Amino acid sequence: RQRKPLVVANWKMNGNSDLVQQMSDALSMLKQPLPEILICPPVIFLTHFPKHQNYKLGAQNVSEQQSGAFTGEISADMLTAAGVTHAIIGHSERRSLYGELDGLISQKVKTAVDAGLTPILCIGETLQQREEEKTLEVLARQLDAVYAAQPYLLAHSVVSYEPIWAIGTGRTATPEQAQLVHQFIRQHLAQYDVDAADALRIIYGGSVTATNCQALFAEADIDGALIGGASLKVADFSAICEMA
Ligand code: G3H
Repeated sequence: RQRKPLVVANWKMNGNSDLVQQMSDALSMLKQPLPEILICPPVIFLTHFPKHQNYKLGAQNVSEQQSGAFTGEISADMLTAAGVTHAIIGHSERRSLYGELDGLISQKVKTAVDAGLTPILCIGETLQQREEEKTLEVLARQLDAVYAAQPYLLAHSVVSYEPIWAIGTGRTATPEQAQLVHQFIRQHLAQYDVDAADALRIIYGGSVTATNCQALFAEADIDGALIGGASLKVADFSAICEMA
């Protein structure tokens, strides 16, 4: 396949200096060829990671502003200066717990791309929306909020499909369920830029483990994974990377 797989560790608000050391040691020992591997620890640990060709670093969030009086925020320029290459944007926890709406998320994606960061745009439906058969409508709205007015951003993005009912629940989407959605996302985005949609990495998130990842990676439009819980276990995360 021409799209290089991407495996992302989202530590969320977990981890410590010991885990930084153990994870960087383990990943540094993995033999090429490897997928693109990205670690997104809490921002305070980003500069603790030794540089190594086997992995890159990402932030879990980024400000939509350039600089100024925005207490508690971190700018895209500060992240790139720290060696960060990617930023997760619009994770469902940011949307639901911190009130981030589509408009803000769209601005964050633009700010990230303008600063040279690759945004990992997270989209996904709730269980209720799925049961009401509104999944595709919800995903289209989340995608259009970012790309309808700024289609050039697509060529610089990664999209992560994370059904909210599958996050941290142990209830993963089946490979067939996820593939159908990933295929929809790619087709939907083709209206903005056919080539960029074809080259776009669409990764899956939601209770991915070393046991279920292989079946997900085997699907044609699943180009990697965004991993929460299992990314805190060094052996499991390394195994997932080796299988991607
Ligand atoms: O960012 C990661 C996702 O929210 C998935 O988390 O692997 O713990 O279900 P999880």
